[in-house]
Amino acid sequence: MNLSVNTSLHARPPARAVSPTRAPGGQAPLSLALREGTRKAHRLVESAGFVQALLRGVVDRRAYARLLAALLRVYSALERALERHRDHPDVRAIYLPALARRDALAQDLALYDPTRALLREPPSPATRAYVQRILQLEREAPELLVAHAYTRYLGDLSGGRVLRGLVQRVLRPPPGRGLEFYRFPAIPDPVAFKHDYRARLDTLGTSPARAQAIVAEATRAFDHNHALFRELEGSALRTVLLLLRSANPFRQRAHNAGEDRAPELVHT
Ligand code: HEM
Repeated sequence: MNLSVNTSLHARPPARAVSPTRAPGGQAPLSLALREGTRKAHRLVESAGFVQALLRGVVDRRAYARLLAALLRVYSALERALERHRDHPDVRAIYLPALARRDALAQDLALYDPTRALLREPPSPATRAYVQRILQLEREAPELLVAHAYTRYLGDLSGGRVLRGLVQRVLRPPPGRGLEFYRFPAIPDPVAFKHDYRARLDTLGTSPARAQAIVAEATRAFDHNHALFRELEGSALRTVLLLLRSANPFRQRAHNAGEDRAPELVHT
């Protein structure tokens, strides 16, 4: 079954709307190179079945808890690596504790997986591969960690508001709980923050070879995310089948609320 419903969380605006432009004949600033260089990978991850299922509200607590458990492992590795190399010249500019997601993920997971069963299980193959790559960079190429920070954190700041609303609507966590991952208390203005983040990126990747390596690594980071989602697609599919078998109560609820379309999605 193809879960893809061609729903877009937020269509990426043209690079020139948000990024510095390329000097004539010159090298593109890193923020622009990253945006352009990962466009295709981004489109692929956006259309992943699990992401689309989330957008359509067809995700249950179990599948969502699995996503949180995978992300907790990934962010723990990433944030440890960034902390360890925070004085490295290619990490310092983007080492920003205001972005840290590890504790927020742990709090959310405690709600969706209260017995902590998922963290006692071995990591899934895609989670393990993602974490292994970050650990390898931590040891051998800390100058490429920026690619992983960019891929996750700018993504979180871009889609967070919409995803928060979807999770709230679909999983209905108790008030004030279960949505910490989408809250950046130290970032009151995500748009201004992203602008500043891009300016920080532009102080890195100053040689064409280094910039190319960072963009290639970011594409790889997108691929790791795509692999995580592919693994979760099975759970989303099972949920769809269950819903179909039970006369699709979700659809009924959405219909009653006048929401038989996916929500209109905006980005920050
Ligand atoms: C349905 C899924 C997704 C949609 C529709 C989507 C869409 C978008 C949009 C519209 C932006 C631009 C926001 C802006 O410029 O201010 C954006 C930015 C971004 N997204 Fe996503 N996204 C999705 C999932 C993801 C995932 C899973 C990742 C990575 C794990 C990701 C990583 C990023 C990154 C790194 C940026 C910043 C691009 C830049 O300005 O250089 N996105 N996304």
